[in-house]
Amino acid sequence: MIIAKNQKAVDTALAKIRQQDEKAKIGLVMTMGALHGGHMTLIAEAKKKCTHVICSIFVNPAQFNNPNDLATYPRTLESDLNLLEDHNCDLVYAPDVDTVYPKGEQPYHIDLEGLDEGMEGTFRPGHFKGVCMVVERFFEMTKPDYAYFGKKDYQQLAIVRKLTAIRQLPIEIIGVSIARAENGLAMSSRNQLLTDAEKEEARLISYALRQGLDFAIHNRSAEQIQEHILSHFEETQFEVEYVAIVHNDTLKPVDHVDDNTTVCIVVYCRTVRLLDNMQFADTLRP
Ligand code: PAF
Repeated sequence: MIIAKNQKAVDTALAKIRQQDEKAKIGLVMTMGALHGGHMTLIAEAKKKCTHVICSIFVNPAQFNNPNDLATYPRTLESDLNLLEDHNCDLVYAPDVDTVYPKGEQPYHIDLEGLDEGMEGTFRPGHFKGVCMVVERFFEMTKPDYAYFGKKDYQQLAIVRKLTAIRQLPIEIIGVSIARAENGLAMSSRNQLLTDAEKEEARLISYALRQGLDFAIHNRSAEQIQEHILSHFEETQFEVEYVAIVHNDTLKPVDHVDDNTTVCIVVYCRTVRLLDNMQFADTLRP
């Protein structure tokens, strides 16, 4: 496994790959490190289609609207590298901030046609601008054929697809299903900030979503489903930031659910922000 820390090293490694194999297919898995089983499912998915898999590790300051969140974001480079080695990643790209943003943060604009409004866009102002900036930079720096993103960040995935279409980039974006711990908790780097007891209690998040999905079978409105999900968190240590029931593609809130609908949730456990979502398709389809 090659470890590249700057653009020159990554260019050299990619040139070598392309020289050795004209038909090489490069898959990029972008991460902010603190790697876990969910990231490894992205690597495994990339391995299926690509001859070479790059994993980037970069905690992107531009996408954090909360300085405390940035400061406490887990950083575990050594164990990340071991995990990637074990999963046969070919190239790790772990640049520093100056390499990614050599001229500092430059003015950046992209019209995401409303996909960045609502949900994360409401609660994390500026977040998606930072995500788009860094995704575009890594696409530019690594020129992958495929790029893999987890469905846990459902709005992010939709936005990355839109960005790729708007900029007409020759990259196929592949969404990968949420990896869950045995108790149903969606895998996330932020889970490392939870105690074992909290991780266990956080099973409630996926449980409440599943209950919401089951409730939909009785032809309830989106509002009733939302209330049903919220009721599971009453008198618990969890604080719900939002429950949104949206169209799969437009991400606009819906009044009634169907098999093109997704429910997204953000819950705080103390200061740790946990995301999850589920799609109604599986439950509603006969
Ligand atoms: O999902 C993430 O970890 C980040 O938003 C990403 C895509 C690596 C960009 O920094």
